[in-house]
Amino acid sequence: MGVISFARGIPSPDLLPVREFGECARAVVERDGGTVLNYGPPGGYPPLRAWVAERHGVAPERVVLTNGSLQGFNLVAQLVFASGGRAIVEAPTYDRTLTALASIGAEVTGVAVTDSGVDVGALAGAIETGGPPKLVYTIPTFQNPSGHTLSLEGRRALVELVREQDLLVYEDDPYTLVRFAGEALPTLHELSGGDNVIYSSSFSKTVAPGIRVGYLVLPQALVPPVEALASSSYLSPTIFVQGALYEFLERGYLDRHVERVRAELLARRDAMLRALERELPAARWNEPEGGYFLWLELPGGVGAETLLARAGEAGVTFVKGSDFYAGSGGEEAARLAFSFASREEIDEGVARLAVLVRDAVAVPA
Ligand SMILES: Cc1ncc(COP(=O)(O)O)c(C=O)c1O
Repeated sequence: MGVISFARGIPSPDLLPVREFGECARAVVERDGGTVLNYGPPGGYPPLRAWVAERHGVAPERVVLTNGSLQGFNLVAQLVFASGGRAIVEAPTYDRTLTALASIGAEVTGVAVTDSGVDVGALAGAIETGGPPKLVYTIPTFQNPSGHTLSLEGRRALVELVREQDLLVYEDDPYTLVRFAGEALPTLHELSGGDNVIYSSSFSKTVAPGIRVGYLVLPQALVPPVEALASSSYLSPTIFVQGALYEFLERGYLDRHVERVRAELLARRDAMLRALERELPAARWNEPEGGYFLWLELPGGVGAETLLARAGEAGVTFVKGSDFYAGSGGEEAARLAFSFASREEIDEGVARLAVLVRDAVAVPA
């Protein structure tokens, strides 16, 4: 076995619907090439827009399809922070969101994530101290990087806080459908009735990241400026791929594919939990009920940076916890992805990691 990656938050090649998507791409070009091989509206391929709108119970005009959901966040952030301002994010949070916020000069405040999701009391405290932010960015379900999920109680409290303080929330929700255990929870968007919540999701985790199709469900007032920015940045998103994706949905391939992905992710998560139990009993970790990641707290004051420096040579990689914080934090933690490595690789990779941890405990850096 070569280098085993717990760093890559992507599906392994065997979890991609290669044959089905290929069929759909050919079918849509043959049938509808004159449309899907042209530019389309900045909000995306109308039938797909309508499909997403129906799923979320909104008018199609409120859906903007983007080239992946990260692009949607960038569009919104460019508008919201055009004249600077503060964002409240979770600590830890998705590192690319932090990069995007830094590049547009937004001020960032982190609020701790607990085992049951973002600490809503601490969020209220941050607002009291620093004033209302322009945007609260949250990943309530199977959070990247921690795998934590905001409880129903926490969701209600957050929605209440948002309503009381008239805040704008960005709910980044690409993992909801890859739940493999426990009960589904309502989104913030659903609980709030859509007011004050920008909802974002993606087909990266349910179909394939390479198709680059994500979407925003926006409050009506934000639709024209977001579409104008989309149009001036890239004219229209990838209409051809959106057409092929729509064909994929219409043929009923989504549910079947997601079932397969869920079963495999569950098997891989379980393999990782068993391996951690066996190899690293002194560490702490969570048991996510979906998504791609778990959060490992290293034992004995072992620094993740030191470990990572030695990890490549030992044939295993991960992302160090501190990469997911705007300030300090996560120095003795790691994000482990179980989406990419096979079960056998997970067994071997955790064993390699455990050797490194034991060496680091014995010989501190
Ligand atoms: C929380 C979160 N948001 C957004 C993205 C970006 O997804 P997309 O492929 O839709 O751009 C990811 C990808 O890993 C993610 O984890």
